[in-house]
Amino acid sequence: MTNATLHVSQHPAILHKLAVLRDVDTEPKKFREVVRELSWLLGYEALQDARTRPRTIRTPMESMEASELGDRIGLIPILRAGLGMVDAMLELMPTAQVWHLGLFRDERTLRPVEYYNKLPDSASVDLCLILDPMLATGGSATAAIEVLKKWGAVRIKLVNLIAAPEGVGAVQAAHPDVEIHCAALDRGLNDKGYIMPGLGDAGDRQFGTGRSD
Ligand code: PRP
Ligand code: URA
Repeated sequence: MTNATLHVSQHPAILHKLAVLRDVDTEPKKFREVVRELSWLLGYEALQDARTRPRTIRTPMESMEASELGDRIGLIPILRAGLGMVDAMLELMPTAQVWHLGLFRDERTLRPVEYYNKLPDSASVDLCLILDPMLATGGSATAAIEVLKKWGAVRIKLVNLIAAPEGVGAVQAAHPDVEIHCAALDRGLNDKGYIMPGLGDAGDRQFGTGRSD
């Protein structure tokens, strides 16, 4: 499914992996593995309009005009859950810069709280990919986009595993220029701001936290 700025992948490999990810019986080790695999596939889709520049190379047969990535790519994982998406993206784009942003969602207000930001003074990349498995109310994504725009970023994309219509609406209303790439658009949020049917808490499921039993 695609509208102007929302791209929901329909690729069978993504649909298959998403079912594993959502399954309550999937343990953290497997969960992390599937987060990585899905991130690679979504990153591949999100980069389809990245700019290239010509590069002359020599094959064993002759010289030719080939292409190389022209855009300087910035990966912005939102701590903590976005961390699990970084390695796969770096496999795709080994020269990407990684700038971490720490945001957590206040459980009572559902508003984002920023706790880590070491961006340099001015933007050093051409295309920013914000990495976060979940787009729920959209508060964290909107805050991250605002930070990047103040930094000077011009081209920004969001890469999420699962999005809720509420979050997509919030991002599209505040930042209609930002494209969203995700593996699924779910039904909506419950009264605690969790995505339904979703996958639960993406950070807790990756890092084995959240359960005391
Ligand atoms: C989760 C998720 C997003 C945010 C989405 O992070 O990784 O950052 O919630 O919700 P929103 O769209 O309503 O802002 P969380 O706050 O649980 O922090 P964590 O990654 O440290 O677990
Ligand atoms: N954050 C998560 O980790 N999961 C949700 O469903 C919503 C926000």
